[in-house]
Amino acid sequence: MISKQEAKNRIIQLRETIEKHNHNYYVLSSPSISDFEFDIMLNDLAQLEKLFPDLADSDSPTQHVGSDITKEFIQREHKYPMLSLGNTYSEEDLMEFDTRVRKTIGNDFEYIVELKYDGASISLTYMNGKLQYGVTRGDGSRGDDVTTNIKTVKSIPLILQGNDFPNEFEIRGEIFMPHEVFNSLNKEKEAAGDQLFANPRNAASGTLKMLDSSMVAKRRLDCFLYYIIGDSLPTEFHFDNLQKAKEWGFKIPENIFKCTTIEQISTLITEWNIKRKQLPYDTDGIVIKVNSLKQQKQLGFTAKTPRWAIAYKFKAEQVKTKLLSVDFQVGRTGAITPVANLQPVQLAGTVVKRATLHNADQIILLDIRINDTVFVEKGGEIIPKIVGIDMSQRNSDSKPLKYAEDCPECGTRLIKNETEAKHFCPAEEICPPQIKGKIEHFVSRKAMNIEGLGEETVELLYNHNLIKNIADIYSLKKEQLSSLERMGEKSAENIIAGIEDSKKVPFERVLFALGIRFVGETVAKKIALTFRNIDFIKGASEQELKETDEIGEVIAQSIIAFFQNNKNIEIVNRLQAAGVKMEIEAIDNKLSDKFNGLSFVISGTFEKYSRDELKELIEKHGGKNTGSVSAKTSYLLAGENMGPAKLEKANKAGVKIISEEEFLKMIE
Ligand code: IVH
Repeated sequence: MISKQEAKNRIIQLRETIEKHNHNYYVLSSPSISDFEFDIMLNDLAQLEKLFPDLADSDSPTQHVGSDITKEFIQREHKYPMLSLGNTYSEEDLMEFDTRVRKTIGNDFEYIVELKYDGASISLTYMNGKLQYGVTRGDGSRGDDVTTNIKTVKSIPLILQGNDFPNEFEIRGEIFMPHEVFNSLNKEKEAAGDQLFANPRNAASGTLKMLDSSMVAKRRLDCFLYYIIGDSLPTEFHFDNLQKAKEWGFKIPENIFKCTTIEQISTLITEWNIKRKQLPYDTDGIVIKVNSLKQQKQLGFTAKTPRWAIAYKFKAEQVKTKLLSVDFQVGRTGAITPVANLQPVQLAGTVVKRATLHNADQIILLDIRINDTVFVEKGGEIIPKIVGIDMSQRNSDSKPLKYAEDCPECGTRLIKNETEAKHFCPAEEICPPQIKGKIEHFVSRKAMNIEGLGEETVELLYNHNLIKNIADIYSLKKEQLSSLERMGEKSAENIIAGIEDSKKVPFERVLFALGIRFVGETVAKKIALTFRNIDFIKGASEQELKETDEIGEVIAQSIIAFFQNNKNIEIVNRLQAAGVKMEIEAIDNKLSDKFNGLSFVISGTFEKYSRDELKELIEKHGGKNTGSVSAKTSYLLAGENMGPAKLEKANKAGVKIISEEEFLKMIE
């Protein structure tokens, strides 16, 4: 048996690790371990706290749900706490659940079984048939008010049909991203060189927290609603209430079953663990609920979960195979990713030969060694990963894996910043995959969109010493191209024409094409619209950059570092001299001079226009947009969920605050 001191140390360590993973999952939408691994840790912690009750703590993660609260949205209290479900991976636990239920309410009852949708939970409040708020789970008692984003989800009715709905009620469900939307979003991200979403669930929760609701609308989220709460619900049964909700216009679970025994539920589990793979969205288990609301009341709640419902989670598919070797891959930004080469093995319909190992910490955590027998898992993630080792099969002479110290491509010593999980090759000017990666990004469709210059041609030009950086592209001559192998006169002509055409690409895309770390498409657009030309960006301080929407410290520092490097300045100057656009086009379609001499700050989210559209309107009427409120600001155009700091500053400086409606009246 574990000693009290050992238990204490383990409890402290587990609480810390679980809180870190909660933050990764709920706030950053970027989990670094599977649900299965997380649940095992949480379960270990609960067991230890049960074994040593005096080490229990009301702040322990076993006592509260993780929080997704972010500082960009205002928070709203949940009228009814938004609890989670007890969950299990074993049918034995389901039997225990069933026994407990029967002890309290006898045998005369029905279970309703639904699929467990894998997305982000949401609570919608309706008053007099109109959607009032959409709030995330948050910490269970209060969540982020994401109403403006929710209103872009087509399957959520803004106004209800019929007339038999309660005056006020809440309906809860799961926001999800269908596979088709997820795949095309990730394809776009890949083409743009942006970091991909690991799975549809992260994509859904990340999208729900975007500040620009017009971007949310483009992501085509969807929502199943599975739980109604209120003081005067139409019927006494969960199933019948959902049927009513369907009549009012809600999308309710498509697969929903009535059962009376655990055996029937067990059959459903086997059946749906296969059938779910054909569904156009992710599910990660089934949910079992007692149908009668009266009986639900009798069973009641624990501090964290209802006693009348439980979730059974499907295990991610796992296989065992042998780790043959580990490669260290260098990405466009110099980030190193260790990749495991595996003895090929069949997993969830495909042959898996490689799996990601994420970073050095993950390798240390797993203590993974060459020739180990490893467990490979394919959960919702795109790339399979190694989740554990079968220690019983480890060779006695195996040695810990040595992490790369030098770049495998250019030999430069790798570096690791404390704040980042990955090692980096700092030699961006000489490291071939970094150089080629930057050029490929520059010519890609979402950036300069230079026709004829794909990955292969870039490789060819690089190998022939014709291009070593993005500015070299503009010095290419037709003859240099046509003399290359596999390149005819016509292709050479097309490439030169493509390069010429790229000089018309607007500044915001040029800024994105430069490949500044963390400056993706949206950020580039925001910066370009705010600062207008490259010289203003070069000269901007960290503070000024941070005052732009969606720009935090990391992005601001990355921009500053980029322009502190003389090589980058030289490249930007050469691009400018070649005729590449380095400023926002002058606005020639001016609408009026109404706002001449006036400066505006925009904050929050709006109903009719996106923030970028409002900025454009301000400029078309002769006004100026600035990022931060000061005594010189004429108006603060305030939307929903506006940052409280901006509001306070505006009040202090005596700046006039106007709504979208008032603004539109001004330019009517
Ligand atoms: S019922 C009080 N039904 O799974 C219980 N939840 O791990 C209300 N979920 O918090 C929840 N599909 O976010 C319910 N058909 C379903 C569900 C479902 C997915 C989510 C929900 C919940 C979590 C529990």
